[in-house]
Formats: sequence, structure tokens, C-alpha cells
Amino acid sequence: MRLAPTYPIETERLLLRPLTSEDVDSVHAYQSLPEVCAYVPYEPRTREQVEERLAKPEFTRHELDAEKQALTLGIVVKDTGRLAGDVMLFWHSEEHRSGELGYQLHPDHWGRGYATEAGRAALGLAFEELGLHRVIARIDAENPGSAAVLRRLGMRQEAVLHENEWFKGRWSTEIDFAMLDREWRALSHGA
Ligand SMILES: CC(C)(COP(=O)(O)OP(=O)(O)OC[C@H]1O[C@@H](n2cnc3c(N)ncnc32)[C@H](O)[C@@H]1OP(=O)(O)O)[C@@H](O)C(=O)NCCC(=O)NCCS
Repeated sequence: MRLAPTYPIETERLLLRPLTSEDVDSVHAYQSLPEVCAYVPYEPRTREQVEERLAKPEFTRHELDAEKQALTLGIVVKDTGRLAGDVMLFWHSEEHRSGELGYQLHPDHWGRGYATEAGRAALGLAFEELGLHRVIARIDAENPGSAAVLRRLGMRQEAVLHENEWFKGRWSTEIDFAMLDREWRALSHGA
């Protein structure tokens, strides 16, 4: 199994492509914001931290060729050329053909459907190109905007894990969503 897309990946309003060291300022612009970091594992990042990450090959990879790798793609708005955020596809297991979706956008770009549009493209890569059987997404119950993205994508809510993590000073309830390859095909059918 392998995922080696041709870039940029084009959707109606967006271009998706690997991040580069040129993106430090644009990535820092959203990864430094408390409202972007509230429900993601990391704390707001300094410019130096973003620079260090984007200097590492695992954060700027173009391909997935082994399980446990993650592909992070920058989300560029076609009309403006601005980097709005990123979408991530984690490949968890080759044996189980499983993966996970993640996304984050600068608040300037919330409320336009970009996360949904980019997430749909990432699911397309996962199911149609990498050949995954099952893609999950795990969100905090206090992040309804993210749940709405997953519902718009057609992912099913599977589980609520009440207070399962001590997260940023409080008990976090996790909601797990999933989609199977046949569900993706059924949704795409006739699209
Ligand atoms: C989670 C996150 C990406 C959701 O952003 P979002 O802007 O609500 O999601 P989308 O980009 O899909 O946009 C959907 C909104 O745009 C609206 N919209 C406008 N034009 C649209 C279009 N053409 N297509 C779809 N939706 C559109 C929708 O109605 C919806 O608005 P609503 O929430 O008021 O109903 C964003 O809040 C974020 O980056 N948060 C910080 C990081 C984070 O928590 N990531 C998830 C971790 S699990």
C-alpha cells in the first residue's frame, strides 16, 4: 500500500499540497492561536517551534509508504493564494487498512466550508488511493464545529468516551466518528 498523490490536489475552491519551510509564517499564524489549539493535543506554538517542525521531513512529506506515517497537506484558497490551514491523514495500520482524519484552519477561514471540502479530498485519498478500509476521527465533545464537519462529510458517530482524558486542565469527553470504504463509495456514487 502506498499513497503518492500528484500535487496540487484541486477541489472546487482549494488546492491541497504538502507544507514547506516557506509556510512558517502562515502556519504560525494559526498554530499560535489559543482558539485553534483548544481541542488539539498541542499548546499554541511559537514561530521557532513551527520553523523546527517544518524543517523535519515527517511534517513535509509528499507520500505515505508505511503505516504510522501521517500526511499533512496545506489548504490553499485558490482565489487568494492564502494558506488557510491544513488537513492530516494518519495511516494507522496496513493490516487493518485503517487511518484517521484531522484538520485545522485559521479562524479567518472558518464558516466557509473549507474544512469540509479539504476533509472530503483527504477521505478520497484515503479510500480511493491508499486503499483504506476504515477512517476515524476523534474529537472533543466541546468542539461541535468539528463534529459538524464530520457529519457533513458523512462520517458516523460511533462512540462517546466520557471524561476519558485529563486534557488541558479538565476531563475531556471524546466523540469518535468513522467511515468505511463502502460507505464512502455509496456517498460518492452519483456525485
Ligand atoms: C474545526 C474547524 C476546522 C471547523 O471549521 P468550520 O469553518 O466550522 O468548518 P467548515 O470549514 O467545514 O465550514 C462550515 C461552516 O461554513 C458554512 N459554509 C459556508 N459556505 C459553505 C460551503 N460552500 N460549503 C459548506 N459549508 C459552508 C457552513 O454552513 C458552516 O457554518 P455553520 O457552522 O455556521 O453552520 C475549525 O473550527 C478549526 O480549525 N478549529 C480549530 C482546530 C480544531 O479544533 N480542529 C479539529 C480538531 S478534532
